[in-house]
Amino acid sequence: MAEKLVVYDSYFGNTEKIAQAIGEALGDATVRKVNDIREQDKDDLKIMFIGSPTRAFNATPAIMTFIKSLPKGKLDGVQAAAFDTRINPEQTESRFLKFMIKLFGYADVKIANALTKAGAELPIESAGFGVTGTEGPLLDGEIERAKSWADQIL
Ligand SMILES: Cc1cc2nc3c(=O)[nH]c(=O)nc-3n(C[C@H](O)[C@H](O)[C@H](O)COP(=O)(O)O)c2cc1C
Repeated sequence: MAEKLVVYDSYFGNTEKIAQAIGEALGDATVRKVNDIREQDKDDLKIMFIGSPTRAFNATPAIMTFIKSLPKGKLDGVQAAAFDTRINPEQTESRFLKFMIKLFGYADVKIANALTKAGAELPIESAGFGVTGTEGPLLDGEIERAKSWADQIL
């Protein structure tokens, strides 16, 4: 059983660091990589954070599949929040990429929409945390920012 669950996906460890920080802020939370989720993690949920690296303007397939696979009603009354990690657009020289980012956005919104569709309540705005390059590291201050963002749900 996990009243507070943080589910994340991560290739290079940056989203994992944000997920762990959110888990610390929540206290008593289960923090689990999406492919390691156990059946009992989904019991008695009250708060659930879901995060993914932004890849091709979206969350990872594993994260989206996880949300879609939740049984109907599982998220009724659950307070949920979505987050991602992403490259700071200021760092890219490519005007085309900046344009694409503006058009297609980030994983946090895709996760938030899927959570709403699945019946969760989203009391706080989703959030994105910046990495300095594809493999990170995270921008300075992002761990602390993640903690105070997550605190808002309590
Ligand atoms: C194949 C691929 C696609 C990516 N697509 C985007 C993107 O659309 N927007 C963005 O801001 N960052 C993009 N990135 C950068 C990732 O967001 C970055 O690698 C991620 O935040 C690192 O998180 P992780 O360490 O948890 O894997 C992409 C990276 C890769 C490798």
